[in-house]
Amino acid sequence: MDLVEAIKARKSIRGYHVDPVPQEILREILEVAVRAPSADNSQPWEITVITGKILKDIAEANMEALNSGRPIAPDVTHKPYEGIYRKRQTEVGKKIFELMDIPREDQGKRTAWISRGFRFFDAPAAFILAADESLDPTRAASDIGGIAQTICLVAQKYGLGTCIASQGVLYADIVKQFTKIPKTKKIYWCITIGYPDWDFPANQVKTDREPLQVNTTWLGFNE
Ligand SMILES: Cc1cc2nc3c(=O)[nH]c(=O)nc-3n(C[C@H](O)[C@H](O)[C@H](O)COP(=O)(O)O)c2cc1C
Repeated sequence: MDLVEAIKARKSIRGYHVDPVPQEILREILEVAVRAPSADNSQPWEITVITGKILKDIAEANMEALNSGRPIAPDVTHKPYEGIYRKRQTEVGKKIFELMDIPREDQGKRTAWISRGFRFFDAPAAFILAADESLDPTRAASDIGGIAQTICLVAQKYGLGTCIASQGVLYADIVKQFTKIPKTKKIYWCITIGYPDWDFPANQVKTDREPLQVNTTWLGFNE
């Protein structure tokens, strides 16, 4: 697949076939993805790849915590979006809810959809992305973002779909309990991965991007 085609084709996949992803393929993806740049070549990413029983156990423990009303406790937090950012966030949600036939007022269906994220969208495998707590979190987040996108792009070579997701790791202590990721590591996000179920309605979502003039300034041209 051509690079530009791969970038354009990548999208978040939230419905997967149950087929497992061979470990060798996951390894090959990571071998390439670690070529991602990082600040001062610090390579802060610490990647835990989960599948099978451990993934199921974490998903179940997440669901239990969620259903009991336990507040989420992620290692990395962010401010709520406001203004245009909030608008863009709401638009994605609206599109997905429309595709999934989840009416605004149907609290049951909305909760079921949210739970799905905490179950890693029932993907057969996931990468947990962490970095040492001693690192500057802004730099680490930027570097982890770079490798995350690279993983998602390379995965397509194998017919795999991905979704970078906070939801699966919002109870960071649960993930650490099962994976034995030390407390001294901050979990940033996970990436769910598997063979896309193209009949799953949310996979049809096409998110918008602003035209370049909204967020690009050109200086020094046509002088
Ligand atoms: C850091 C990060 C965290 C994300 N967390 C979630 C998540 O918890 N649940 C989810 O459904 N999508 C999540 N996403 C996916 C975004 O919603 C998605 O990338 C965005 O809407 C653009 O859509 P696209 O990936 O299909 O182009 C996350 C993406 C990033 C980069």
